[in-house]
Amino acid sequence: MRTQVGIVGAGPAGLLLSHLLHLQGIESVVIEARSRGEIEATLRAGVLEQGTVDLLAASGVGERMKREGFVHQGIYLRFGAGTHRIDFSELTGGRAITVYAQHEVIKDLVKARLDAGGRILFEVSDAALYDLDSGAPKLRFHHENALLELQCDFIAGCDGFHGVSRPAIPSRMRREFTRVYPFGWFGILVEAPPSTDELIYAHHERGFALVSTRSPRIQRLYLQCDPDDELKNWPDARIWEELHARLATAEGWKLAEGRIFQKGIIAMRSFVVEPMRYGRLFLAGDAAHIVPPTGAKGLNLAAADVKVLANALGAYYRNGKTDLLEKYSDTALRRVWRAEHFSWWMTSLLHRFHDETPFQHRLQLAELEYVVASRAKATTLAENYVGLPIEP
Ligand code: PHB
Repeated sequence: MRTQVGIVGAGPAGLLLSHLLHLQGIESVVIEARSRGEIEATLRAGVLEQGTVDLLAASGVGERMKREGFVHQGIYLRFGAGTHRIDFSELTGGRAITVYAQHEVIKDLVKARLDAGGRILFEVSDAALYDLDSGAPKLRFHHENALLELQCDFIAGCDGFHGVSRPAIPSRMRREFTRVYPFGWFGILVEAPPSTDELIYAHHERGFALVSTRSPRIQRLYLQCDPDDELKNWPDARIWEELHARLATAEGWKLAEGRIFQKGIIAMRSFVVEPMRYGRLFLAGDAAHIVPPTGAKGLNLAAADVKVLANALGAYYRNGKTDLLEKYSDTALRRVWRAEHFSWWMTSLLHRFHDETPFQHRLQLAELEYVVASRAKATTLAENYVGLPIEP
């Protein structure tokens, strides 16, 4: 088998890359370890930056997002029993975010690829990358009981943090940067009406809490927890008690309860690999970088990576120019490190650290007060949250 771009992983990065290449007449094959049902049911992030929304819409896969997603013009920061709104639109010249779940984006992209005759091979196993530093890189894998080889011009490693692509770069050719946070998020899905019109990020003595949404009938809520905690330690009554305590306000705001039908614990880490390229292998999305979910940047970084990569591959196939491919890693990493800083800052601002001193706690409160009092500081939060422009 032969293709122009072999794509490892059918997550947001791999699928969107395949779609953006197709729009430029470039052929690709996506290989994925999981089934279509599994990737379309994986619960992940929910917030799309303005630039991601614009990219999906401009490339013809934004129709359902526009219909079913919720546009939010700001967020609420809650601390000291008070609630403060950060008005994104006012602070960023009309930009906003859209709450639309990642698995919905996945469904839209899978459908667009398959409708256009795109090739996605699901449930492949033992995928391995070869000859990355040659002009003819290859993927080998098992699919439907056969061992297949896919010869490519380029390979895109879009297979997430635990994928095979990043380790295919010799360790002496890459440098990794990691920070693991001493807490996780306990996430639930609840059958209940919304309790708020925009997301609430709460800083509280007992730990961070977040109120998000999925639909008029389903809400997404998170609580800071021990990263090694177990679901069995969290019966429904304890979850509600913690949420009510951490989200309580002096204004008497009420959290709507409902049936909890999904629970999970999310680890929190920051991670970057440099460079995001080795020979003819280009990494994109979580294969190259992880952010803690507090800044809602993960999916958006993946989308920005593949926009830059699709553009560079387009220039190569149109006129043989390799300069944008040469610059891919530097271009992507500039945005990645900005998002890494923002996600680390939001995480540090809003969580309780088990080893924090009273001094550090006071600094956190001083920073929160400043974010809501200073237009300059609020603008910093707003422009990072709605997302900075994607470089070509
Ligand atoms: C979500 O809705 O899942 C969500 C929202 C905001 C975040 C992280 C996750 O910062």
